[in-house]
Amino acid sequence: MVGVKANLFDDVNDVLIDQERLQERIRELAQQIEEDYSDVENPLLLCVLKGAFIFLADLTRLLEMPHEVDFMAISSYGAGTTSSGAVRIVLDLKEDIAGRHILIIEDIIDSGRTLDYMRRNLLARSPASLRICTLLNKPSRRAVDVPVDYIGFDIPDEFVVGYGLDFDQIYRNFPFIAVLKPQVFAGEPEDE
Ligand code: IMP
Ligand code: MG
Repeated sequence: MVGVKANLFDDVNDVLIDQERLQERIRELAQQIEEDYSDVENPLLLCVLKGAFIFLADLTRLLEMPHEVDFMAISSYGAGTTSSGAVRIVLDLKEDIAGRHILIIEDIIDSGRTLDYMRRNLLARSPASLRICTLLNKPSRRAVDVPVDYIGFDIPDEFVVGYGLDFDQIYRNFPFIAVLKPQVFAGEPEDE
């Protein structure tokens, strides 16, 4: 097989958030969301692919209220650990969201550019409400101000992987949030 490493776990430098803390915090978020949406009919949890797919999968199973899930894929140009800031939609919703209550489910907010773009784009479709829930937040990296309603964890300015988040499409399967060993990034192009 091509590109298969002996053991992905060997690339981990540090586990930032373990499985237990993740699950505990996601239970709290689910409870909060359920309280806040108690009077809201059939909200739509809108998962930002690919990074948020595991977060959504855990969150949706903890919610007892009726709700729908749907998916959008956004791509920021550029590979590696920094994005260029240019954003485009690569997979859009089929359904009209006018009058719907939308809760965006995101893996991480870094510069804020992706969610700012997505938020503007969705607001133009006249939803009844639009809120944002992110598992991770890097406040020190924010370049664009985005209103965030639910945050799992604030984390320092470090590139993290696992629980849906990737480095060059790998490591999404880790059941925890981790920082990789520096040598994994060797050969990465310098920041623009
Ligand atoms: P933005 O800078 O807020 O637009 O972040 C955009 C996207 O970059 C996120 O949705 C992630 O897909 C990715 N990203 C940002 N920081 C990290 C990280 O630490 N690990 C993995 N992906 C990241
Ligand atoms: Mg993402």
